Amino acid sequence: MDSLILSPENQSDIQKAGELLRNGELVVIPTETVYGLAANALDSNAVKKIYEAKGRPSDNPLIVHVSDFIEIEELVEFIPEKARVLAEKFWPGPLTMVMPKSSKIPDITSGGLDSVAIRIPKSRTARDIIKAAKRPLAAPSANISGKPSPTEFSHVFSDMNGRVSAIFSGKNCSVGLESTVISLCTDIPTVLRPGGISVEEIRLCIGEVLVDKSVDSHTDELESVSSPGMKYKHYSPKAKVVMSKLSFFDYVNLFENESQVAALCFEGEEKYIKGDAITFGKRYDSNLQAKELFNALHKIDELGYKKVYARAPQKNGMGLAVYNRLIRACGFNVIEPTVKIVGLTGQSGAGKTSVANELFNYGIPSVDCDKISRDPKTYEGDCLRELVKTFGNTIMKEDKLDRKELAKIAFSSKENTKKLNQITFPVIKKRVSDEIDRLKKSGVKILVLDAPTLFEAEADNYCTHILSVTANENLCLQRIIDRDKISVEEAKKRMSSQLDELYYVNCSDFVIDTSQNEFKAQGREFTRYINNN
Ligand code: TXA
Ligand code: MG
Repeated sequence: MDSLILSPENQSDIQKAGELLRNGELVVIPTETVYGLAANALDSNAVKKIYEAKGRPSDNPLIVHVSDFIEIEELVEFIPEKARVLAEKFWPGPLTMVMPKSSKIPDITSGGLDSVAIRIPKSRTARDIIKAAKRPLAAPSANISGKPSPTEFSHVFSDMNGRVSAIFSGKNCSVGLESTVISLCTDIPTVLRPGGISVEEIRLCIGEVLVDKSVDSHTDELESVSSPGMKYKHYSPKAKVVMSKLSFFDYVNLFENESQVAALCFEGEEKYIKGDAITFGKRYDSNLQAKELFNALHKIDELGYKKVYARAPQKNGMGLAVYNRLIRACGFNVIEPTVKIVGLTGQSGAGKTSVANELFNYGIPSVDCDKISRDPKTYEGDCLRELVKTFGNTIMKEDKLDRKELAKIAFSSKENTKKLNQITFPVIKKRVSDEIDRLKKSGVKILVLDAPTLFEAEADNYCTHILSVTANENLCLQRIIDRDKISVEEAKKRMSSQLDELYYVNCSDFVIDTSQNEFKAQGREFTRYINNN
């Protein structure tokens, strides 16, 4: 029999859902993360129906949803202090907290564990339904177990119609992937599943937080895991999806040699790919990736692709959650690069050279784009003629390019900087890529591409990783003045023609702050990171 379709706009539908839930029925509800398959969390028979409808292993516990903090008191043995702090900051919202459970929670709801996972959703409709039910609601994502979670009505309808009493036809879910699950049962809180609230945000709020190893690595099915949900193959479309950790340029080449493969890539990249492509957000915007990933995985099924190569998301901020879902959709099938290329970038004066030297001490050589761009040979011929045409004869001194004069004019405004880049980037890039090839052939496994304008020159497309170097503004200014012997005014102008520090940080896999004394230790830490990732 078809499920009843309810509207979140309609108060009597909300009440109807409440009544069904009180009577032990299943109702699919919208939340800000993904659609939830809800039942009365305190009714073992009702909860049993959830496992049946989803085809879910019964040792995988459910999240209990409440509409107000006061309701959790009777569900847990006690409320850890850090849970109160987190609740104050992130509830209602996409954060689930695991706490020691009270005897009110049936074993079937907690998958036999002595803890319970609780969340207050931000979605108004979800909270209204909980209130109407007058019961806490157990609700996993409303997909058939193993398939991608539903973020649109059409997804839930195709998975759940006929398996539940009612389905709400809500709007698309605004976060797009599930809540972050954090356990407060351990001495140091531990993130079991990354999600709608980033680990960084949680650390800012409560300090030290651990991240369970199952989050980004493969866990043996037999090994005991803290969050049972993390051990199952999950979020999988029917197609074989393989994650590429190659640079974008090498990723594009995968499609040259193979037909019948679709791409799951970032917005704007599809035009470089031979064959079909589906996108999931922008390369450096993990919130957008989170919002679009499940929809993209559903599309792969709809379009009937057999094999897909997916771009690897970065693991910072919300990116960790996107990575966590996608690596499972790929069943941990990954194409690793044979040589890791680390884009080293940051504002002028941030200390890139010191970091490059530090990494060199650990055996990681670099291609110095600045050096290539300072070498007069790079500009000989057409390029030099174009520079004179654009910036005037004053940039020439005794038949040679006067780099200082060129810099003065070109870095005086964002517009001029852009013109300079347009003319010089192609020739610089050619020499850079020759240099990369030379190092690759020499047998190195990791190399640094030291490029102040990595993003502007789109040289990030050569890279498998991005490392940004930062320093506080005054330190950057002082370093530029000392190094290039220019005035404070000129140094300030140069700084303002660059990308913001925050931009670099957001786009990076790793950040080293050279205003900190321990920046050498960070270099060591980065070397460890790059060896393992
Ligand atoms: O955003 C969400 O969290 C969505 C919406 C509907 O609220 N729900 C959701 O539920 O994603 P589900 O069942 O698909 O995922 C629950 C996750 C699983 O990984 C499960 O193992 C973990 O939470 N979990 C639940 N109770 C736990 C407990 N007591 N200890 C450790 N992990 C627990
Ligand atoms: Mg799920």
